[in-house]
Amino acid sequence: MKWEIYKTLEEASKKTAQYIVNELNLKPNLNLCLPTGSTPINCLNEMVKLYEEGKADFSKANIYNMDEYVGLGKTHPEGYYYFLQNHLYSKTNVDLAKTYSFDALDVDLNKQCKDYTNIFYKNGVMDVMYLGIGTDGHIAFNMPKEIHYLNAHLENLSSEALSANAKFFNNVDEVPTQAITIGIGMILKSKRIVLNAFGKSKAETIKQLYENPVIDPQLPATFLNLHEDLTIIIDKDAASLINEFK
Ligand code: PGA
Repeated sequence: MKWEIYKTLEEASKKTAQYIVNELNLKPNLNLCLPTGSTPINCLNEMVKLYEEGKADFSKANIYNMDEYVGLGKTHPEGYYYFLQNHLYSKTNVDLAKTYSFDALDVDLNKQCKDYTNIFYKNGVMDVMYLGIGTDGHIAFNMPKEIHYLNAHLENLSSEALSANAKFFNNVDEVPTQAITIGIGMILKSKRIVLNAFGKSKAETIKQLYENPVIDPQLPATFLNLHEDLTIIIDKDAASLINEFK
C-alpha cells in the first residue's frame, strides 16, 4: 500500500488524474473503472484538462461505472451514468460505445448483476480501478456487513451512506435506498487500484485503514489490504488523524 499525502484536494486530484492518464498513455485501450460522488470531480476535471491539452486520448479506453442507484435511469441527473457522461464523456473523446454501466431500471436486477459481471470482464481484467471511500469505509457500494460478494450484486445503503449522499438530492428521503454495485472480488482482481479520500469527514476512516492491517468486513476498504498495487492519494485533512503524516 503506497500513501501519497498532498496539501490540498486540488493537488491530490491532479496527481490522481496524472496517474490515470499515464496508464492510458501506456495502454490506449485501458480498462478503467470510475467512481462517482464528490470525491472524483476534481480528478475528472483534470482528466478533461489533460485531454484539452492534447495529453490524453480516451478514444480507445473501455470505461466502466462501478455502481448505480436502483431505479435511476441513464438520464437521471443524480444517476451515476449521467455523472460520468456529464463530467467526462461529454467533454472528451470517450467513445460511448466503449462505456459500460448497470441498467438499474432492469426488472430482473439479479440477471442484470450477472450480465454486468460478464460485461466487466469482457475486455479482460480492469487495468485501473479508481475508488472513493465512504465515511463508513464502503468502497463502490459494498457496505459494512458480515458477508461480502465477489461479483456484482444489490446492496441496501447504510444510513451513513444515505445521509452522506443526501447532499445530492433535495432531502434524505429522495436518496434511493438500494444500489447495484460491483463486488469486492471485481475490485481486487484489478491490476492497479488508486483510492482518493478528501476532507476531515474521512479522517477517522483513513486512520483506521492506515493503522489496522486487518480484513474487517465492517470496514470494507480493509479488503484492499490484500491488493499488491494500491495507491492511496489523499489530502492533509483526510490524513489529519495519522500521527506520522501530521
Ligand atoms: P463522496 O462519496 O465522494 O461523495 O464522499 C464517497 C463514496 O461514497 O464512495
